[in-house]
Amino acid sequence: MIDRQPNSVAPASHRPWTARVLTLFPEMFPGPLAWSLAGQALARGDWRLETVDIRAFARDKHKSVDDAPFGGGPGMVLRPDVVDAALAAAVDGDAVDAGSRLPLIHLTPRGRPLDQERVRSLAAGPGLIVLCGRYEGIDERVLEVWQPQEVSLGDFVLSGGEPAALVLLDACVRLLPGVVGEPSSLARESFERGLLEHAQYTRPRVWRGRAVPDVLVSGHHARVDAWHRMESERITRERRPDLWARYARGPATTVEDVSSR
Ligand code: ADE
Repeated sequence: MIDRQPNSVAPASHRPWTARVLTLFPEMFPGPLAWSLAGQALARGDWRLETVDIRAFARDKHKSVDDAPFGGGPGMVLRPDVVDAALAAAVDGDAVDAGSRLPLIHLTPRGRPLDQERVRSLAAGPGLIVLCGRYEGIDERVLEVWQPQEVSLGDFVLSGGEPAALVLLDACVRLLPGVVGEPSSLARESFERGLLEHAQYTRPRVWRGRAVPDVLVSGHHARVDAWHRMESERITRERRPDLWARYARGPATTVEDVSSR
């Protein structure tokens, strides 16, 4: 039922960052995560991916996982007993070491919008358990019992949680140590300083009559840095007034800041 990889006996504290995905479509994983940086890191064992097939926890001979919503309406709702049994199996191994218990995430358009800060905090932990919904959703009672963190990718509706899980995992895995070859590139990218990233250019220096900005080929590092910063600020101001307002306000004062004065 749980498709664990061969090193599953490792004690929780020595486990690499682990993603355990509860889904009706385990074949969708690793999907794109088998490629490029995430795929290489997966092959190296820098992170683990396990799938839990929700259908394996169906109780009847038809293996039904869903039913019509009470009160009527279109579509089907995932049954609480089936999802509960799948969740119980998924958290089972972690109970030994509560310190390394994986946070439980439910991907749903109803959740809190995902941002880089949340990704950073999830990547810094031991991993996560992701519950992917399908159809019209999951019976509310099982969500009340398990209280997952509800996360949305944005104000649009996907056909299920799986594509959202792939996006969430990609965003987390690329922040794990050693996954991105050049860590300084992470520090410079969009959102890390609360700004969108400036434009990038490469060879040829002139293409279709369009030249690369002179400052970038000046060899003058301080001027290049100043240009990067100015462009990041301009693009953020123009495209994302919400981010710009937060950036312009500066960092919020925290309790620790005050007590360490
Ligand atoms: N499942 C369906 N739509 C979704 C969305 N926008 N974000 C996260 N999970 C989803």
